[in-house]
Amino acid sequence: MKILKRIAIAIPLILILMQLYRPSRENPPVDQNMVIEKSMNVPPNIQAILSRSCDDCHSSKTVWPAYSSIAPISWVLAHHVSEGRRELNLSAWGTYNLRRKQRKLDEICEQVHSKEMPVTSYVWIHHEAALSDADRAALCDWAKAEKARLPAAPAGR
Ligand code: HEC
Repeated sequence: MKILKRIAIAIPLILILMQLYRPSRENPPVDQNMVIEKSMNVPPNIQAILSRSCDDCHSSKTVWPAYSSIAPISWVLAHHVSEGRRELNLSAWGTYNLRRKQRKLDEICEQVHSKEMPVTSYVWIHHEAALSDADRAALCDWAKAEKARLPAAPAGR
């Protein structure tokens, strides 16, 4: 019984200690000249999909829910957001070079087509982020059209 008592004391203690590590939930400042809408053609239906399903992890406009401050949820969310922004930050699109823009437009289509994005656990909580087949097709068509509008990458690079 002693061991059970110890566990009963240890678990809440561990949970409390876990709260001490608080990952940053700050949104970096947005340079309005660098947001994707500035240099690409983003029609309202695409804008709506991106803000509903992608912006929380792929922009500097993350909406952090109240529970996102509780460890270990906070750790998972902060990790998703920092990884997500590193891969693709729609608020910093203007800082990408041509090759990167082309690659990211390809990847947007691939990721939604293969249903890898938006992240499954995110959709469990944010039901509204789920994409319909029509949303996926619209996003892919848009990404392809925007890629075609970009100047061709210089040969050999
Ligand atoms: C809950 C956070 C989250 C949401 C919401 C989300 N992503 Fe991601 N995304 C990530 C993370 C984390 C990565 C990097 C790790 C990985 O590839 O799984 C990533 C990677 C990517 C990549 C780069 C993949 C690669 O292989 O280089 C693309 C493109 C992408 N996401 C597009 C999207 C699009 C489009 C949406 C909306 C339809 C979306 N994501 C929604 C978290 C998210």
